[in-house]
Amino acid sequence: MNSTQQNLFKLGAAYYPDYISNEKTLTRRVDSGRLEWLTNKERLTEDFKRMVKQGIHTIRLGEFSWAKVEPAPGVWKPEVFKDALDLAHKHNIEVIFCTPTATPPKWLIDAHPDILPVTRTGQKIPFGSRRHYDFHHPEYQKQNKRITELFAKSFGNHPAVKSWQTDNEFGCHNSVFLFTQNAKTAFHKWLEQRYNGEIEALNENWFTCFWSQHYRSFKEIDLPLASWADQNPHLELDFRRFSNEALCAFQRDQIEIIRKHSPNRPVTHNLMTLFTDLCPWMASKDLDYSGFDHYQMESEPHPVTSAWQFALMRSTKQRHFLILEQQPLQVNWQPTNRRFSFDWLFLWGLQSAFQGASGMLYFSWQRMPGGCEQYHDGVVPHDVRIEKSQQEKLIEAKNHTFTKLKNEFGFTDALPLAARDVLCIHDSESLWSHEITSQSVTYTTRKQIDHITQFCLQSGLGLWFAPSLEAEKDRLDAYKLIVLPGHAFELTAAERHLLKNFRSKGGRVLSLPRTGYKTRNNKLSPLPAVFYSETDFYLDDYGALLESETETCDLTDTAAGGHIEGHLWSEKIQVLNKSWTTEATFSNKSIYAGSPAILKLKEDGQHGAHVHLATCPMPQKEAWSALRKILDLPARAISSASELQLQLLESGNRKFLAGVHFGQHPSSISLPAQQKIGSSVLMSLDKNLQAQVELITQSDSQSLSIPGRSAILVELLT
Ligand code: GAL
Repeated sequence: MNSTQQNLFKLGAAYYPDYISNEKTLTRRVDSGRLEWLTNKERLTEDFKRMVKQGIHTIRLGEFSWAKVEPAPGVWKPEVFKDALDLAHKHNIEVIFCTPTATPPKWLIDAHPDILPVTRTGQKIPFGSRRHYDFHHPEYQKQNKRITELFAKSFGNHPAVKSWQTDNEFGCHNSVFLFTQNAKTAFHKWLEQRYNGEIEALNENWFTCFWSQHYRSFKEIDLPLASWADQNPHLELDFRRFSNEALCAFQRDQIEIIRKHSPNRPVTHNLMTLFTDLCPWMASKDLDYSGFDHYQMESEPHPVTSAWQFALMRSTKQRHFLILEQQPLQVNWQPTNRRFSFDWLFLWGLQSAFQGASGMLYFSWQRMPGGCEQYHDGVVPHDVRIEKSQQEKLIEAKNHTFTKLKNEFGFTDALPLAARDVLCIHDSESLWSHEITSQSVTYTTRKQIDHITQFCLQSGLGLWFAPSLEAEKDRLDAYKLIVLPGHAFELTAAERHLLKNFRSKGGRVLSLPRTGYKTRNNKLSPLPAVFYSETDFYLDDYGALLESETETCDLTDTAAGGHIEGHLWSEKIQVLNKSWTTEATFSNKSIYAGSPAILKLKEDGQHGAHVHLATCPMPQKEAWSALRKILDLPARAISSASELQLQLLESGNRKFLAGVHFGQHPSSISLPAQQKIGSSVLMSLDKNLQAQVELITQSDSQSLSIPGRSAILVELLT
């Protein structure tokens, strides 16, 4: 392994020395190729030799190892990891060590059975799987600190340990919302503080007059268990806030202990964004850098969702993030576990790097012989006779590709980050508010974010996220466009001011339907959709569209002419302030026929504008180009295919256009007329899983063509 490879994009895997038998295991010797029954230590040595041969730079250890390291109360066996750590150090492989709190051992559960969680339906989760703990339980909070300290002291000063991961995937398996007695007691305390001990303030906020829910004291309040009809939505939103705060406090306890006993090792967590229960901003606040587990729930991979999830991770800490777990194609938890082709893995590697990942660790290095994940893919196959697996070939191909990129463009330690073109507000409370009273199983904020992401990627625009306008207020001027993707809540006076100021300096604002409907306690606002003034327009009516239902919106000639399709949600807006011009109207077939579908505020003499969409545009090329025109927002580059994702990266004065093409067919990239193109690197994986990396020097043309299933990095000359 050479150190130039190590830095640009780290490749690695989760590794489990704690799962390797103390009996002899049949292993293939790396040097001789002989099959032999090896002792535990010999087997580990061969594993590390193989990792070095593969070009693995980082491994993650220990997240499920509690019972191995502490098999009985007071029995401490850190030597389980000794050989692995020493070998990692010897082989120059960095270790991310994990706290083991995701799997409390049987002896602890037997001593305190009420540590086990209870679900929304009142079911107790048994021992025997994972995440079987209640983070509200005072005893588990004590154990959390105790075991973290023992781990940090035992492993945290080993020279191989460079970083820490807390627990494992907070929130996975629906584990953020717990319905235990300890959760209830803590919730009462939290509510008492939030409502200053005034139960009537809570009654008012929660609209408990509805369905006779009035409370006389905080102690009367139940957790929002599954019920005949929906629970009180204000209670549910407060419960989500409370649960997130409590989980973050549980993590904070670990972080403080790690920092004390294992200094100078950054701490991360493997966040997930497949679900919204855990707020990524809160969960990453105390971390040094964000870690991410990249899995695809859909039966077909969805590259747009991956793109914004990566961008969200980069945005949480405003720096590169690390993919702590990458789905190695086949998993074990889908209804039918699909096999994807290997070029997905190759393209996900490049896509994540272009979106700010500093590396990617596979889950996992081994394929487990036993346990419930025995069919899950890994880097090394079950068949010990195989010298080089398909995954290993792919790792080689990735290392080769990133080395070429590094050498060609002279990057030092990571790829540049995305340009700050577009800022999208991603507020977990807003997402929850829509989920709680959803009004449509089809509508989600995530779909809106998919659309915005697609708009950016079709136009080469760099996309960032923030939890609120306030959070990003010192950097707003850096962006060209701010997006409110169905942001549920009324804009505050401060937010309106920020938007107005942003527009006055030339910025564009884009709001999508379902923006500004609610108050922060999840009630519908008496003054919905007020962006600047209460007399701009009235929201006459609104509602969800069926999955199969679409709206046709006729664009005015000044906009772009023609039509675009809308779906998911529509609004009927009555315009009072004539500074808002209509750029498209709902067609004759719509319930809101003739009513504005796209509105634009552009005040005299101002360069900036606010565009409001009264329906969600379907992801179509026509919609993106109309939107660019209405917003008067030039593209950085234009992609000819929806599967071809483009984004501008910036580093000092240098600019790069990064493209990843997930489609099968050749497509093209058009650049603005004056744009000069420097060197480009075109990358793909061939049938033998070898990287094809082609350097193209300077081109005079304004258009580049790109084959299907490939990626490109182009230096743009200024
Ligand atoms: C992740 C988890 C891993 C493993 C993997 C399987 O969610 O962190 O431990 O279970 O899923 O796909």
